[in-house]
Amino acid sequence: VISVLSFAQQLVRSKVREGDTVVDATLGNGNDALFLAELVGPRGRVAGFDVQATAVEASRSRLMEAGVAERCALMLCGHERLAEVLATKGFGEVAAVMFNLGYLPGSDEAIITKVDSTLAALEQAVSALRRDGLVSIIVYPGHPGGSDEADAVESWAAGLATEAYQVMSYRPLNRLAAAPYGIFVCKR
Ligand SMILES: C[S@@+](CC[C@H](N)C(=O)[O-])C[C@H]1O[C@@H](n2cnc3c(N)ncnc32)[C@H](O)[C@@H]1O
Repeated sequence: VISVLSFAQQLVRSKVREGDTVVDATLGNGNDALFLAELVGPRGRVAGFDVQATAVEASRSRLMEAGVAERCALMLCGHERLAEVLATKGFGEVAAVMFNLGYLPGSDEAIITKVDSTLAALEQAVSALRRDGLVSIIVYPGHPGGSDEADAVESWAAGLATEAYQVMSYRPLNRLAAAPYGIFVCKR
């Protein structure tokens, strides 16, 4: 079986090449950041965002231990500032942006992604994509506020122009409606 998280990574892997620029929009413990840093290799660049200092620090240690921290710029700031930060760092077009929404398991459940900032960040993420680039979003309808956020992301994604983007979802159909699922936007 292929979990939602691993499906997202497989899709990202199929789009990203060595030397690319990519973004982890929700660092958390840095799982996706590490995955991305290994994927882009020493000539690639990873920008990472989180609003929690503990998440940024945990991710930084993880990347340092793996010897890949130099290619990563970790920002203690919200992903709704993605466009501004990428421009300041001189990052150009990106091959992939990963969002893993909700809260960080084992930390403060009140620090959670929110509809307005998520949609603002998603809009900036698709604008930053190069051709054939991918925005991967994992949503969690199971926690308070999570289903509103999942619905908002889904409506936003469904409204993207067909000529410009392919929009797909990877969702378990024989589990509770609250189970996490993936939404993927690929720029044509
Ligand atoms: C589900 S966790 C991410 C898990 C992470 N991808 C991993 O692999 O460990 C969601 C993260 O989003 C962060 N977050 C909440 N609001 C945010 C915002 N506006 N911008 C960036 N990150 C945010 C939370 O602090 C939390 O660490």
